[in-house]
Amino acid sequence: EFSWKLADHPKLPKGKQLALVVLDGWGEANPDKYNCIHVAETPTMDSLKQGAPEKWRLVKAHGKAVGLPTEDDMGNSEVGHNALGAGRIYAQGAKLVDIALASGSIYDGEGFSYIKECFASGTLHLIGLLSDGGVHSRIDQLQLLLKGASERGAKRIRVHILTDGRDCLDGSSIGFVETLEKDLTELRAKGIDAQIASGGGRMYVTMDRYENDWSVVKRGWDAQVLGEAPYQFTSAVEAVKKLREAPNTSDQYLPPFVIVDDSGKPVGPIVDGDAVVTMNFRADRMVMLAKALEYEDFDKFDRVRVPKIRYAGMLQYDGELKLPNRYLVSPPLIERTSGEYLVKNGVRTFACSETVKFGHVTFFWNGNRSGYFDESMEEYVEIPSDSGITFNVQPKMKALEIAERARDAILSGKFDQIRVNLPNSDMVGHTGDIDATVVACKAADEAVKMILDAIEQVGGIYVVTADHGNAEDMVKRNKKGDPLLDKAGKIQILTSHTLQPVPVAIGGPGLASGVRFRKDVPNGGLANVAATVMNLHGFVAPDDYETTLIEVADS
Ligand code: 3PG
Ligand code: CO
Repeated sequence: EFSWKLADHPKLPKGKQLALVVLDGWGEANPDKYNCIHVAETPTMDSLKQGAPEKWRLVKAHGKAVGLPTEDDMGNSEVGHNALGAGRIYAQGAKLVDIALASGSIYDGEGFSYIKECFASGTLHLIGLLSDGGVHSRIDQLQLLLKGASERGAKRIRVHILTDGRDCLDGSSIGFVETLEKDLTELRAKGIDAQIASGGGRMYVTMDRYENDWSVVKRGWDAQVLGEAPYQFTSAVEAVKKLREAPNTSDQYLPPFVIVDDSGKPVGPIVDGDAVVTMNFRADRMVMLAKALEYEDFDKFDRVRVPKIRYAGMLQYDGELKLPNRYLVSPPLIERTSGEYLVKNGVRTFACSETVKFGHVTFFWNGNRSGYFDESMEEYVEIPSDSGITFNVQPKMKALEIAERARDAILSGKFDQIRVNLPNSDMVGHTGDIDATVVACKAADEAVKMILDAIEQVGGIYVVTADHGNAEDMVKRNKKGDPLLDKAGKIQILTSHTLQPVPVAIGGPGLASGVRFRKDVPNGGLANVAATVMNLHGFVAPDDYETTLIEVADS
């Protein structure tokens, strides 16, 4: 019979305070000038790496190790934190959608039947990120969905695109729009009225996260639903080309635009009787739009007109909130996470990050679940992120504030696990600004130091790791690993995550003597961290968890 009770670890004590630090976007790569972690002054992380070899190692943070379809899939924070917290590897978003599209089961589900009701007299709108990044969405899935929906009765289709340049190269959006236009032309040849209706850059239009800045979602709403935007074009290719000509712009930050017909009328506002699908599989940057589309009571911005639509997400974005109510593919059901086990075994837990990553150490960590397991045992602290700026302007972000809160939580003695995410290397790495990313890495390192110092003071244990790579490689490379140049001879900046492994370091005065990394888990990944942490809290992990990374040598 199932029980939440974890067995006592035969050799490791309970009751040690443990700091669990996740550096977001901090991978391990060759030391060269595009490795911002190498370039930055990072004495604390350096000392962990140069310390005892049995207390520092690398683990996989991409591809199959985190439930993604192939080894070419870079890691991301959602799947990374899911694996870290769940201790097991679940087929993830992209893979679930691939399976459902390949088998055709996506068209047999409740979600598709629901939106299909609108096909006879309404328009099918698809809203989402247009790229092959594979973090939030994939263009090939959109292509399959367009084909599948049109074969199943959709006669009028409008695509609302969000340009990327964050999970793929900046400047690649034009190519993706051209590819999509080609498909839509083919659909039109078959008598289906299919067009791009609106667009904008993902970081400026629609894809905000964790309620950081609702004006981003509003800009999208105005373009997608109301058909209103500061820019009008008759072609999306032209729109992206023209808007990119402005100084200091990039695919991520293109302003919103709508496509209009020859008489200047928007071709695809969303109206009563239409069907809407948000085609991102990843939740964090679609939840806000899902709320705007679905909630009757909504006060985040003035929606002006709320069309009566049938709406489905590619996946359900929040299981707890049941949001959206309808979805095309069922999400991975992640149960019995390490967070829940530990709380149920008496481990008092503190979790903290700033807004842009707060959901990562709470919601994603806890298996895509909002809220506390046991309010009397847990405290989750969100430090408001700077909003309305790009993070290269403030590369230190809130690292110091996060570290101070963690330090205070450690020194208070009220918690057994103190878990934080330090966003700098990822968020600033995504801007592609190398100098700022160096500053970001230094700031994260200083935050780690403050937390480790507090652990030293209370005789605790630390585990320092990361969720995926980013700042350790800022340039696109060829197969041999040499930087790639663009037509003008400039290096191609890599704004995305990487395929690199990430470090795991353990230590602290509370670490029992003899604890060391095993040598027989060479392919360990992020999912092995949960069992490791359970051991360090004095417990044996459940049988179905990925194995622990540590052993205790007889002294
Ligand atoms: C983003 O949403 O910012 C990127 O696509 C992925 O970032 P994350 O996986 O590190 O949150
Ligand atoms: Co990232």
